[in-house]
Amino acid sequence: MIYARIAGTGSYLPGEPVSNADLVARGIDTSDEWIVSRSGIRSRHLAAADIGSSDLAKFAAERAIEAAGCEPNDIDLIIVATSTPDYIFPSTAALVQSKLGIRNGGAAFDVQAVCSGFVYALSVAEKFIRSGSHKRALVIGAEVFSRILDWSDRATCVLFGDGAGAVVLEASERPGILASALHADGSHHPILCVPGGVASGQVIGDPFLRMDGQAVFKFAVKVLGDVAGEVLAQAGVDAGSIDWLIPHQANIRIIQATAKRLGVPMERVVTTLDHHGNTSAASIPLALDEAVRSGQLRPGHRIVVEGVGGGFTWGAALIDF
Ligand code: ACO
Repeated sequence: MIYARIAGTGSYLPGEPVSNADLVARGIDTSDEWIVSRSGIRSRHLAAADIGSSDLAKFAAERAIEAAGCEPNDIDLIIVATSTPDYIFPSTAALVQSKLGIRNGGAAFDVQAVCSGFVYALSVAEKFIRSGSHKRALVIGAEVFSRILDWSDRATCVLFGDGAGAVVLEASERPGILASALHADGSHHPILCVPGGVASGQVIGDPFLRMDGQAVFKFAVKVLGDVAGEVLAQAGVDAGSIDWLIPHQANIRIIQATAKRLGVPMERVVTTLDHHGNTSAASIPLALDEAVRSGQLRPGHRIVVEGVGGGFTWGAALIDF
């Protein structure tokens, strides 16, 4: 039987942290107290104008490849989860393949599932590997979300940040990803969206993120609890067997409510949103890599990763690390 295991992790954050006080200094009508009490976010990173998602992804990928002890040309599949691609086409994954100097003709494509994107990409890569068609995948979440924020909308612009995280997922005789579940319900698209596009050289519609925060909050708590329970049930284990819950880093109150529903104490929840903000598809692999490099997450630990995002989309995976 072929399984898929995480062989290495990496991440990258652009520039210096931008604190809540820095946002106030830049003229946003907000306060550290409001942002921290409503979201738990204290700072985030914002990419310079000449840095794209493919650049952040490349740096994170290099670190993951080094941690996995392989070479770029050993990678035969690249999946980048992003809602902020460099271009309409080619895919960010194809650009990353080029920037890494990979010339082996492996597959490369993007996945668009907003904040659930990394969980979607991981699950897709697992299926490629378990089918035997591919041996070693780079799964990346990369975002420059600052580009789609309306900086005059204080209810959204303070919540997000830029960054990238990556894993190398490889074929193994030992189980790594034990269970996964992906879901979507497109009827909820109006509560979180960027309702614009480009046609005939013009922006059509609205190119900025729009969100009904309270509706998103309620929806996220419900589906995150449900989908984590679903992957545990698939594997026939309970929440007590999880060493770490690594949720999408959107809001500390969503994370606390989900952990409570699952019966996982906060000491076993990886949280990085205080210094990353919400980096959408990058948030889970960023948190994963930080947990590995800080020594929290060690080989043999069992984790659940779970995400929810615009669409609406949601998903989770149960993983032996
Ligand atoms: N600074 C100061 N005041 C603000 C700010 C700000 N940045 N933003 C809004 N306010 C004000 C509003 O104007 C309003 O003032 P008013 O009462 O005088 O009209 C007041 O704060 C309350 O506004 P609400 O929008 O009702 O605030 P709420 O308590 O709902 O908190 C928040 C907003 C933080 C967005 C909350 O709804 C939430 O956490 N939602 C979850 C959404 C989320 O995390 N999204 C992340 C992306 S989605 C994802 O990743 C799945």
